Amino acid sequence: MANVDIKIFENISIKEKLSFEKFDKDNYGDYVDENPEETKLNNFDMPRLVIVGYRNNKIVGLFLIYDREIEFEGKKIKMAGVGGVVTRVDCRRQGVMSQILQKFFSNYIFKYKFDIAVLCTDVKKLGKLYGRVGFVPLNRSYFYLNKNGVEKEETGGMVLGLNNKSVVAKILSSKTKLFVGESNF
Ligand SMILES: CC(C)(COP(=O)(O)OP(=O)(O)OC[C@H]1O[C@@H](n2cnc3c(N)ncnc32)[C@H](O)[C@@H]1OP(=O)(O)O)[C@@H](O)C(=O)NCCC(=O)NCCS
Repeated sequence: MANVDIKIFENISIKEKLSFEKFDKDNYGDYVDENPEETKLNNFDMPRLVIVGYRNNKIVGLFLIYDREIEFEGKKIKMAGVGGVVTRVDCRRQGVMSQILQKFFSNYIFKYKFDIAVLCTDVKKLGKLYGRVGFVPLNRSYFYLNKNGVEKEETGGMVLGLNNKSVVAKILSSKTKLFVGESNF
């Protein structure tokens, strides 16, 4: 399997944003189960980081990290929201995203001092992909506010303990509502 190098973009320029959005548009395709208007309402936050994978100097995949401070059972938690995970259509099932996730979560994530990471997916289908870097299913819904301030429920949550592993154990064993702030990821 060819090596995938990763590069981390922080506070991206408009030009970089447009090029990543184009990659996303070209490759995400119709994998999204909501209509584009709904997606705009639900996903409106700007990412703090864009993690981009390259093979032979060409982009083969990327994902986004959103930076949130949330509260759970009275404690403040620094949370990384993981979203926009996409591999170039013609490079799928070659371990590209596994390598990008592995490299970022093994070598770079700790620099940003997140307590936990949260993502949403089709757990049955892709739980194994994220499980390889330690994500486990939340097994209950999490909640966020959409652009109109309406509370929305997300069922495919997975969580990962980073700087604060005990908080993930607490989240997993608790019945308290997990609220991840404004915008899904
Ligand atoms: C999901 C996606 C990012 C996976 O990228 P990828 O580079 O093909 O992933 P990998 O090759 O590293 O796959 C790793 C594992 O994920 C799982 N997986 C990946 N794609 C899968 C698919 N279409 N169906 C079922 N399992 C899949 C498998 O367990 C796979 O391991 P295996 O090939 O050894 O069986 C890619 O298919 C994609 O861009 N899909 C469209 C956008 C999307 O759905 N993003 C996810 C949002 S949460």
